[in-house]
Amino acid sequence: MKQIAVIGAGTMGNGIAHTFAQSGFTVKLIDISEAAIERGMTTIAKNLDRMVAKGSITEDDKINTISNIITYTDTKDGVVGCDLVIEAATENVDLKLKIFKQLSDICDHNVILATNTSSISITQIAAQVVHPERVIGMHFMNPVPIMKLVEIIRGYNTSNEVTKIIMSLSEKLGKTPTEVNDYPGFVANRILMPMINEAIETLYNGVAGVAEIDTVMKLGMAHPMGPLQLADFIGLDVCLSILNVMYDGFKNPKYAPCPLLINMVMAGKLGVKSGEGFYDYAEVKKAEKVSKQFMKS
Ligand SMILES: NC(=O)c1ccc[n+]([C@@H]2O[C@H](COP(=O)([O-])OP(=O)(O)OC[C@H]3O[C@@H](n4cnc5c(N)ncnc54)[C@H](O)[C@@H]3O)[C@@H](O)[C@H]2O)c1
Repeated sequence: MKQIAVIGAGTMGNGIAHTFAQSGFTVKLIDISEAAIERGMTTIAKNLDRMVAKGSITEDDKINTISNIITYTDTKDGVVGCDLVIEAATENVDLKLKIFKQLSDICDHNVILATNTSSISITQIAAQVVHPERVIGMHFMNPVPIMKLVEIIRGYNTSNEVTKIIMSLSEKLGKTPTEVNDYPGFVANRILMPMINEAIETLYNGVAGVAEIDTVMKLGMAHPMGPLQLADFIGLDVCLSILNVMYDGFKNPKYAPCPLLINMVMAGKLGVKSGEGFYDYAEVKKAEKVSKQFMKS
């Protein structure tokens, strides 16, 4: 495998593109939004700068990584000549089904189609595709260039051969792939999201404040980050979608999203990406805007 396409240049898509490009793959990064592509490329450049400053890569590595990425706003143009497509678009069932129907129509039948979905059924997605045995979940963790785990999800029809290829490809990226089966939330989010939801419920019930809840989990349970801050990093809209998928999939009230989470998403408080969630990131957003203007001038 030499050439891969990544659909979606948001939080995860730009991290996946960065990781593959740094390992020498040609990456075609596709997003319907020109602004999202620009933001994604700025994030990649910033993350590479941080790695150069730390001494973990050289300036040449940075230049090569960036030059391995080509951007597109049209999926049909972007997937030409790719051996693997990884979809990392917004977590929405209808959108993903539509994207995979299109990929089935425009890609050769030997192209492997992966999704980075956090919770949506791989089997349901694969049902849109001719040769569903080539559809697989490749669930990277955030931030992708740093996090070692890739949860590899086998849909009902995913073949052994495709699973083997994707497991070994993940290892080539320096990751640790872990194989799981296709049930709502898979393993990572089935365990993580109820904890985040409970932390939000604890705040909603007035048991403790944001900082206190996160401090208890950081210092008491040795978590590197509190659950509310982690929710901000994941994106509150993403957390809500995952909880809804598990709530619908298991028909179990224990996965019902906390009303406070629903309200915050409706109010546009999505965490780091919107500038505010449980914490305020306005200063970070302001700094990003200034550096973008500076780069343009
Ligand atoms: N955020 C996380 O921590 C995290 C972790 C693991 C997996 N995921 C999963 O990764 C996927 C992406 O999440 P994200 O947090 O990067 O979302 P995001 O909102 O940051 O980015 C989504 C991007 O998809 C683009 N998009 C929407 N429709 C598209 C289309 N038809 N074609 C091309 N691009 C399109 C949007 O313009 C946007 O830039 C979701 O399935 C999510 O569940 C997220």
